[in-house]
Amino acid sequence: GIVVSSLLRDTGMVTVDPGFMNTASCESQITYIDGDAGILRYRGYPIEQLAEHSSFLEVAYLLINGELPTPDALSSFEERVNRHTLVHEDFRTFLGSFPRGAHPMTVMASALNALSTFYPESLDPFDPETVELATVLILAKTRTITSYVHRTAKGEPLLYPDYSRGYVEDFLRMTFAVPYQQWDPDPVVVNALDKLLILHADHEQNCSTSTVRIVGSSHANVYASVAAGINALSGPLHGGANEAVLRMLDQIKANGGDATDFMRRVKNKEDGVRLMGFGHRVYKNYDPRAAIVKQSAHEVLQALGSTDELLDIAMGLEEIALHDDYFVSRKLYPNVDFYTGLIYKAMGFSEQMFTPLFALGRMPGWIAQWREMMNDPQTKIGRPRQVYTGATERAYVPVTDR
Ligand code: ACO
Repeated sequence: GIVVSSLLRDTGMVTVDPGFMNTASCESQITYIDGDAGILRYRGYPIEQLAEHSSFLEVAYLLINGELPTPDALSSFEERVNRHTLVHEDFRTFLGSFPRGAHPMTVMASALNALSTFYPESLDPFDPETVELATVLILAKTRTITSYVHRTAKGEPLLYPDYSRGYVEDFLRMTFAVPYQQWDPDPVVVNALDKLLILHADHEQNCSTSTVRIVGSSHANVYASVAAGINALSGPLHGGANEAVLRMLDQIKANGGDATDFMRRVKNKEDGVRLMGFGHRVYKNYDPRAAIVKQSAHEVLQALGSTDELLDIAMGLEEIALHDDYFVSRKLYPNVDFYTGLIYKAMGFSEQMFTPLFALGRMPGWIAQWREMMNDPQTKIGRPRQVYTGATERAYVPVTDR
């Protein structure tokens, strides 16, 4: 709990801190978390207020620039992002060339990496105008890429962007509309997705964001850095948990919906089974994002007139956990991933798209953190030390003598 803000110079002393539980890798002004109190703020603004009143692109602007935009600044930012949503035709071909069964997260990471080859003029990490261009390009193209990975996985034709629509609305149109047919947005779905993207937009030095920073610390460009972030996010202990939650709920349903037996296996740590979507390195209280998502899950399902038995199973698991000493003593509460999949599913996304949606939401945070790091005079190349535990010096033995 002690915060050391002074810059430690190389003292010759090495501390071993697996998982960096107690190591701050940087100073940051972007996101504040109080894990014990369940507080999350972007640039000082409580997540609850932003989720209620703001929009995803406004939050992106806030995270990246540090202040809420004026009306003019917001509309010009939105317009710039919208105008760049079209991707190069060769890039479309590239996106369509992965095997049908490819996981969308793998395609997405490859796509963000490849994007830099189409925009060589946006790669200088130290020229502010170039960085601004890369920022807008990445926010715009990631939206298009995310809808394309959904469509290519299904073998559906790709749609071109419509500049007249908002960021989230047009993302949904490009993802779900039938070509040449009228598509009308459902305001409940647009607002719910906008809110979910806001909730995912940043979360300080988690696994993927730390990855973005460490890659960028070698002065790799922002595309390479965020592509690495997507790969880090794909794991089931991180962003991949939202997909894993749905698989877990499906499995419980297939086994007759008995949550009690599943919880017994979790508590006995049978085969390493965990309650996915529960627990957090920093939150030792209810994840404030999970509280908003839970409410939203009810609203979206109700508005879409769909019921999902999995929501009941999820609430049943939470209820058991809230009163069970195993979870209470370890301070394990639902995290942001616990209820998101149920909303995405109700919206029509396949399970494999859940983590790409997380990546779409997290993109402004990764960019903001990369930019903050590049502008921070304290930044040095990330290079952790180790404590060597291998063999001491020994003489080489020729292969014929072994
Ligand atoms: N189910 C059952 N037990 C759990 C869970 C869980 N979901 N999470 C933690 N525990 C237990 C551990 O077994 C451990 O018990 P022990 O003290 O008896 O050994 C104790 O709680 C502490 O857990 P750690 O793994 O040491 O906690 P850590 O901070 O390293 O891990 C993590 C955090 C990875 C999120 C973990 O809680 C987890 O695996 N959760 C499930 C996956 C998940 O939902 N990930 C999404 C995280 S949020 C995000 O990325 C957006």
